[in-house]
Amino acid sequence: MKNEEYKKLSIDEFTKAAERYESNHAGIYEMCKKDYPEILEELEKEPFQDLLDAGCGPAPMISLLSEKYPERHYTGLDLTPAMIAQAQKKNIPNATFVVGDCENFPFESNCFDAIICSMSFHHYPSPQAFFNCVKRCLRPNGRLILRDVTSDNKALIWLMNTLEMPLANLFGHGDVRVPTRELISECCEKSGLKLEKFEIRKGMRLHCVVRKTDRKG
Ligand SMILES: C[S@@+](CC[C@H](N)C(=O)[O-])C[C@H]1O[C@@H](n2cnc3c(N)ncnc32)[C@H](O)[C@@H]1O
Repeated sequence: MKNEEYKKLSIDEFTKAAERYESNHAGIYEMCKKDYPEILEELEKEPFQDLLDAGCGPAPMISLLSEKYPERHYTGLDLTPAMIAQAQKKNIPNATFVVGDCENFPFESNCFDAIICSMSFHHYPSPQAFFNCVKRCLRPNGRLILRDVTSDNKALIWLMNTLEMPLANLFGHGDVRVPTRELISECCEKSGLKLEKFEIRKGMRLHCVVRKTDRKG
């Protein structure tokens, strides 16, 4: 499938899901909620002022963050206009929501201290483009906290990429691939970011921290 076809599938999938995404009948999206406490815990380790949630959906994480740290500034970016509409309905103070592509951030360079991306990265046909955007838009010493599904079992990854994902595409889901240790390492290396933490946690959860260490944009 072409890159634009994956993106169209994602937009169609999440347009249908937008209204029920945060409800108690969110179906497969229920599992995304398990990631939020661990992202909060990682964020708490360092101060930040300006945070981007890449692939924010209806902004569950920004809602939690703005209650906890109301004085900070939040930006949510999502490809699906219906998701951004749900986020905007919340009228979260100090938050800006933008419809756009995580492979081409519509933001100035060096403008975020922290970027979070949860259960969205496996929808990006060009993961390197996302990492290049992260490198450009993070401030020096800023970090990306990336959460997704993964495994260290190569046979399982092969099955998921070869069978599960194409099947999901047939059923209207915009999933592209399961991110692996190799993929993340390569993206970091090519974009000049430092992979500080790569953990596979309970429930096949990828928990990554990636740092911008230099001063170049
Ligand atoms: C499973 S939801 C995750 C939402 C939220 N991050 C969470 O943890 O609940 C995936 C989101 O990624 C968005 N998405 C998919 N591809 C994208 C892209 N290329 N750029 C921006 N957002 C994208 C979808 O529109 C959807 O809202």
